[in-house]
Amino acid sequence: MGVKMAHGSGCWFLYLAILLLVAIVPCSQANQRSEDGLKTEVFSSPEFVLEPGLVSNKYYYNIDFSRGHIAIKNFNGEVVDENGKSIPLHETYLHHWVVLRYYQRKGVDIPNIHGDLGFLRSKHIIVKNSGVCDSGLSQYFGLGSETRRTTTDVPDPYGIEIGNPDDIPNGYEERWMLNVHAIDTRGAEDKLGCTECRCDLYNVTVDEYGYVLPRTYGGGLRCCYDDARCRVKEGFQAEKRSLRLRYTVKYVEWDPSILPVQIYIFDVTDIWTKSDESRGVRARHHCLIEYDVESCTVAEANDGCTHSKILTINFPTGGEVVYGVGHQHAGGIGTTLYGEGGRVICSSNPTYGNGVEPGNEEGYIVGMSTCYPSPGSVKISAGETLTLVSNYSSSQRHTGVMGLFYILTVDSSANSNAVVHAPVDVHKATAISEYSWAITLLGVALVAVVIFVVFRRSGREEGYEAILA
Ligand SMILES: *[C@@H]1O[C@H](CO)[C@@H](O)[C@H](O)[C@H]1NC(C)=O
Ligand SMILES: *[C@@H]1O[C@H](CO)[C@@H](O)[C@H](O)[C@H]1NC(C)=O
Repeated sequence: MGVKMAHGSGCWFLYLAILLLVAIVPCSQANQRSEDGLKTEVFSSPEFVLEPGLVSNKYYYNIDFSRGHIAIKNFNGEVVDENGKSIPLHETYLHHWVVLRYYQRKGVDIPNIHGDLGFLRSKHIIVKNSGVCDSGLSQYFGLGSETRRTTTDVPDPYGIEIGNPDDIPNGYEERWMLNVHAIDTRGAEDKLGCTECRCDLYNVTVDEYGYVLPRTYGGGLRCCYDDARCRVKEGFQAEKRSLRLRYTVKYVEWDPSILPVQIYIFDVTDIWTKSDESRGVRARHHCLIEYDVESCTVAEANDGCTHSKILTINFPTGGEVVYGVGHQHAGGIGTTLYGEGGRVICSSNPTYGNGVEPGNEEGYIVGMSTCYPSPGSVKISAGETLTLVSNYSSSQRHTGVMGLFYILTVDSSANSNAVVHAPVDVHKATAISEYSWAITLLGVALVAVVIFVVFRRSGREEGYEAILA
């Protein structure tokens, strides 16, 4: 694992290793380039095989990733076939991909297969982003259909610090998990319906874990789990194909002049309770991740049929915003994060494609606009009340949509000359806690296995899949 090969030569010996060890080892080709200290590495996920209608929602542990004490300057990915050719969204819809950082006991190798309990049972510590959801949305990186045309550069002098040996507990090493959720919609009767995971199209009334879905649950991730099938036109045939997520990491070697950023993700469905410092109670954030948009009534149609979902939330710490981007699904018409008093922190609007080629697929969100405030111009104070607005067109009904907002912030008091090994906020609270607690965390945050199922009796309000873009 973690073997990088220049220009893909010598993959044969990994295949040999697979045969010998019966281990699942991704044969990833890392092409490294360097310009002015900025290094670029390109990796590939293990392959997933799709055929018309089929869903793949897999978790890959210990994926190839850039190593060392570095500052990530950009991370993005896209779906390609065996020949490295980009696959358009109208053939394979990329519902989401998510990259999670964790520390694992050295020497522990677990097979990177979906639903594997080896990871849950193994000694590991998830390094969550800085907030704010309690379970799920803990990722460092993650996007969906918009991946090809969304800017993900972290501007100078900032970077996402990883691999700092001082942060990694003794006996552990830093690793990365990738979750890719893709839907083959070739020949689908209703492509949009398949991408919105409409339960009727998947003929699903019971979820992946055997729980009967509430009647009111019309669509969402519980209906498009791994190996679920969306309805295709009768008689439609197309070949199976092997796909991968090809992902690119750009980074520079760590340097004390780099200002480390914190990663925050807000979810417009967040059901939260305030912290109460006097009683030592911290804020709770129950993020549902998905929601539905009902179609507008005739009366509303005159007003353009906009569905607005609004969240007001307290920002836990303070900071300066250096980057912002929203995440919406098809039907989305824009999302804005406001500060107290209504000032705009960042507005992010979707770009819809108008062609057929990858990156410009008609009817799909192929990019989200981003914000790069000039340094120091957008500050959020500690505890400030933020308002997140996610607008969708309600001229038709949508299921399983999202309204997320990512921001990167830097501690306002940080000074580029004074920062020496300032660690990224890794939520140390999660570190080296009890083994049983780690299992619970993962049950919630990862593959939603046994422990978590117990809490999910009464439908989606109880949450389910956790790590989503
Ligand atoms: C839908 O699911 C039901 C129950 O599992 C099954 O009997 C039926 O044949 C399925 N229909 C289709 C079209 O696959
Ligand atoms: C959302 O929609 C409301 C109502 O149409 C509008 O006033 C507001 O400006 C919109 N906001 C965004 C972020 O698009």
